[in-house]
Amino acid sequence: MSSISIATAAEVIDLLRDDLSAIEREFAVQSESSVQVITDIATYLMAGGGKRIRPLLLLLAAKALGSSSDSRIRLGAVVEMLHTATLVHDDIIDEADTRRGRPSSNTTWGNSKCVLAGDWLYMQAFRTALEERNFRVLDLLISLTQQMVEGELLQMQKLGHLINEEEYFDLIYRKTACLFKVSMQLGAAIGDGAAADAISAQDQPMGEYGRNLGLAFQIVDDVLDLTAAEDVLGKPVASDLREGKATLAVIHALERGTGAEREAIRTVLADRNFARVPHSQILEILHRYGSLDYAMDTACAYAEAARLSIAELPASDAKRALLWVPGFVTSRDR
Ligand code: IPE
Ligand code: IPE
Ligand code: MG
Ligand code: MG
Repeated sequence: MSSISIATAAEVIDLLRDDLSAIEREFAVQSESSVQVITDIATYLMAGGGKRIRPLLLLLAAKALGSSSDSRIRLGAVVEMLHTATLVHDDIIDEADTRRGRPSSNTTWGNSKCVLAGDWLYMQAFRTALEERNFRVLDLLISLTQQMVEGELLQMQKLGHLINEEEYFDLIYRKTACLFKVSMQLGAAIGDGAAADAISAQDQPMGEYGRNLGLAFQIVDDVLDLTAAEDVLGKPVASDLREGKATLAVIHALERGTGAEREAIRTVLADRNFARVPHSQILEILHRYGSLDYAMDTACAYAEAARLSIAELPASDAKRALLWVPGFVTSRDR
């Protein structure tokens, strides 16, 4: 493990403040369409805030490799636009009514307009990425898109069914960790001064960091879905069980519970509501087997693996910031 110190949150914010502001401006510029409803939806989404963790990773990867190219602003906006578009589609698929503490866009504009606005935003991200004239960038983004769509479809096929840990990790890699990985790889692609299209020497460690961090991130998201309060989380809680999704803590309890406990969990997943088995009963089962702790311990292990992935990176403020992010991910409450 590297002996350099971990940055503080204030140091990370200081390091990235100007770049993150520039990315917000780029996102705003890229959100303008001649069709007003698209601009309205995109502006609403942007104003909702969000942690901006994907552009943050891209910036840190680029900075850790010494890049100050303008590409980092454009591509930072690209990953946040892609993320935003997937949230629009995800909320339609999940029939969610809240996002970032406000009504989700589908609640305000309806599913049809939001599907199309999400498509538009997605392609606008690609148009922006195309300005790089770098096939490596497009290659990463196209593979990412296919992984994410495949992940959503695989998840749909498994709704209401019991899945094992291996299937769970495959799903969360595709739907979440892959974008974290690609954000880091894009940062590396513009970061080390290699010729456009060449694979950066740091592609592998940066990608591994992103993959490990992304897995930790989604495990925590899934724990928060089970344990958080909606006003803190800013999006619906207990929604995974109501959608028939078995996440890590639930899989853990299913593998250990008594016949009756397994049946209770199965009932909720199959009914997709808590009419026959209350949410509190499921939480009791999860507590009984230490399943929430197990999931958080697993997330912390991936967070630590992320730190280890970049152990060989030369010391810098950006590296210190990359060492801070995993702790932020595992201790967040929204
Ligand atoms: C939500 O991502 C979707 C998941 C991958 C769990 P974030 O938690 O990064 O959402 P915002 O952008 O901060 O709202
Ligand atoms: C994240 O999964 C899916 C995306 C990649 C958008 P979730 O369905 O758990 O995300 P949230 O909880 O709605 O943000
Ligand atoms: Mg969702
Ligand atoms: Mg979730």
